[in-house]
Amino acid sequence: MVNTEKFIESAIAEIREQAGSEKVVMALSGGVDSSVCAALAARAIGDRLIPIYIDTGLMRKGETGRIRTLFGTIPLRVIDAGDEFLGALKGVTDPEAKRKAIGERFIRVFEREARKEKAACLLQGTIYPDRIESEGGIKSHHNVGGMPLRMEFTRVIEPIRDLYKDEVREVAGALGLPPEIQHRMPFPGPGLAVRVLGEVTKEKVAVIREANWIVEDELVEQYRPWQCFAALLGLGTGVKGDNRIHGWIVAVRAVNSRDGMTADPLDIPFDHLLRIGSRITADIPAVARVVYDITPKPPATIEYE
Ligand code: XMP
Repeated sequence: MVNTEKFIESAIAEIREQAGSEKVVMALSGGVDSSVCAALAARAIGDRLIPIYIDTGLMRKGETGRIRTLFGTIPLRVIDAGDEFLGALKGVTDPEAKRKAIGERFIRVFEREARKEKAACLLQGTIYPDRIESEGGIKSHHNVGGMPLRMEFTRVIEPIRDLYKDEVREVAGALGLPPEIQHRMPFPGPGLAVRVLGEVTKEKVAVIREANWIVEDELVEQYRPWQCFAALLGLGTGVKGDNRIHGWIVAVRAVNSRDGMTADPLDIPFDHLLRIGSRITADIPAVARVVYDITPKPPATIEYE
């Protein structure tokens, strides 16, 4: 990126031009990408912007409350669509099919809201790596290849489509967004669904949401990694109390990266790993086993699906 200030100016001009005199709905997840887009769009088209937060039921613990607090001063619409998303994921096990089902749900919810407001445009925080991964056939990001072919929107506006994550963070700083947003770890649009291998159920999401919260609580402040989270791998045997159980296997993943295109596992002291493992198995009765993922990207990806 040449110059942050110049980028901001031209992005605002582009949003104004693309929106024309239309109202625009946008997906505000509270991450740095969508928050930067919201700030740019608010400057470009003021109250013709309709920011929407969809609670997909696949969000992290406490996320919806956090969003309400963070964006309490703007007219953010919060849509509770948990049952709708879980319903669309019922019986779906293939990672691509999961992403597509989620991408389609996102668009249908936005279309419903747009119809109420007579808004013709959708604005999204797609960034450059989302596009190359989707276009290169690596996987469909919910907001690129995961979008349905038929949509009611006449235009999709993507003001930060050419930026890498570190550039988005620079723009966030220049726009004066709070450090909590500027430095927030990336969280995938399809949410905890890509951290549950195979079919997504309410029970599995509840387990991984709790494990994810413990991992973040243990690692974020101390190490400031690019990303850290937990993923649900499957079932294995264990012993809890006097009983042999069939319990969940949880993987802890923590990586450092510059732009998400490559990544290295975080070097966490072994005693700290043991503590995280004990905390997860003690706090979540359904978990029998915890492993630490030591694979860089490549050959692994950061997320599990
Ligand atoms: P991977 O797993 O491909 O992830 O190594 C690279 C970065 O992208 C995030 N990611 C996603 N973000 N929709 C998103 O908005 C997605 O479908 C998606 N998949 C991965 C991932 O969390 C990491 O930061």
